[in-house]
Amino acid sequence: MTRETFIVGNWKMYKSIAEAKEFVHVLRKHLKSSQKIYLAVPYTTIHSLAIEVKDTGIVIGAQNLHQAKEGAFTGEISGLMLKEAGADFVLVGHSERRHVFQESSQLVHQKLLAALSFSLRPIVCVGEKKEEREAGQTEEILKQQLEESLGVLTLEQLKHVVIAYEPVWAIGTGLTATPEMAEQAHQFCREVISHKWGYEAADQISILYGGSVKVDNSESLLSQTNIDGLLIGGASLDPENLSKIISKI
Ligand code: PGA
Repeated sequence: MTRETFIVGNWKMYKSIAEAKEFVHVLRKHLKSSQKIYLAVPYTTIHSLAIEVKDTGIVIGAQNLHQAKEGAFTGEISGLMLKEAGADFVLVGHSERRHVFQESSQLVHQKLLAALSFSLRPIVCVGEKKEEREAGQTEEILKQQLEESLGVLTLEQLKHVVIAYEPVWAIGTGLTATPEMAEQAHQFCREVISHKWGYEAADQISILYGGSVKVDNSESLLSQTNIDGLLIGGASLDPENLSKIISKI
């Protein structure tokens, strides 16, 4: 089974509209017609970038959404609004959402359902903290986060979902899981999915690695059997850097 490869940039709270447009302008020059790249960008840049990247391999998405379609939720944004602005995918349960904004896996599940209902492809992020890894709890945490975040999705719904394994201790720290450590965690995530949805579904789902991915470590991570792509924060802010990573696929 050949799984789809996803190279996803997560810009977090960086880039003005002008900077975002300039980025895409440069990236397009490097992108071959067959190549695809996903960019999770700030809300304010989604609409203008979606227009800018039409008919290119660049796909625009968001970094978060509210679980409701609409309502009295001051400061929030719904999947419907993101879709209308031109987003095609959305990150759910990124570790900064889980740990800085205290989002539980139950909430992540509701956001996942909202994303699916508006035809936004959800990229569901899971990962253990440093102290959890040190206490030997990595698998327990991954199992719990996956089971609670994915909930009782049907096989049909699961087909649209992408998973990202991002060890919290590796995000923005310069510490990367070794390709072997990441491969082991990815294999485990696939087992958890297999137990619930069967071997075929587990074999088909793309699982990305994230956490201090750079040009230098991208190739060895991507060469692992169970690593189907990368979720890149800091290194995705520079178009030259990002295109070097894409060239490793
Ligand atoms: P990083 O971020 O590549 O800067 O570690 C990854 C992420 O937050 O998704």
